[in-house]
Amino acid sequence: MARKIIVAPSVLSADFACLREGVEMINRSAAEWIHWDVMDGRFVPNITFGMPVVKALRPFSDKFFDVHLMIENPERYAEAFAKAGADLVTVHYEAAPHLHRIMQEVKGQGKKFGVAINPATPAECLRDIIPYADLVLVMSVNPGFGGQKFIENSTEKIRRVRRMTEELNPDCLIEVDGGINDATAPAVVEAGADVLVAGSYVFGHENPAAAIELLAGSGR
Ligand code: DX5
Ligand code: ZN
Repeated sequence: MARKIIVAPSVLSADFACLREGVEMINRSAAEWIHWDVMDGRFVPNITFGMPVVKALRPFSDKFFDVHLMIENPERYAEAFAKAGADLVTVHYEAAPHLHRIMQEVKGQGKKFGVAINPATPAECLRDIIPYADLVLVMSVNPGFGGQKFIENSTEKIRRVRRMTEELNPDCLIEVDGGINDATAPAVVEAGADVLVAGSYVFGHENPAAAIELLAGSGR
């Protein structure tokens, strides 16, 4: 049976000198979500943007804003991103000892809550938060940069996350982020991913809308 696949292009690979154009390209495409990579130079080596950028672009799109916080102390900012226009706020398991409290704050704003894990973090850590999460994000590269190579054992990890979500919270979506392209997408979809993040593949493609369309078709 065909599965619905959501594509979340990451504006990390868009031209930061004209981010609005990147957002408008996504608006015209088959992508349902826009992925915002927030980096603080501490949890990850790179620094990107904060709440003001998300807030500034919010009026220019009706797409679902998927905000991925790669920051230390995400409890300080999760609610602020929800207020800035995020529809979903995802925080890293590795950065947050009080995930359940952050979940309450994000949901208190009427927004969805996601939890992310790095490649070296075992999926089983998520068992007790999955019942409360709207999404699990499986990092398939070490977070911090676009354009890295997909780490192969992520597919097996997605399979294990899928088994847990089916058992504990069948509504919880599974998102995969890092090194996703036309070659890597089919296996992660087969393993159970619902949402495909793609940065360099989409924005580096001569026809970004066609690249998005192709990824969206990986469940068929
Ligand atoms: C990496 C970010 C990703 C990044 C993916 O730290 O979380 O969202 O944009 O980029 P690609 O698709 O180029 O691997
Ligand atoms: Zn991301």
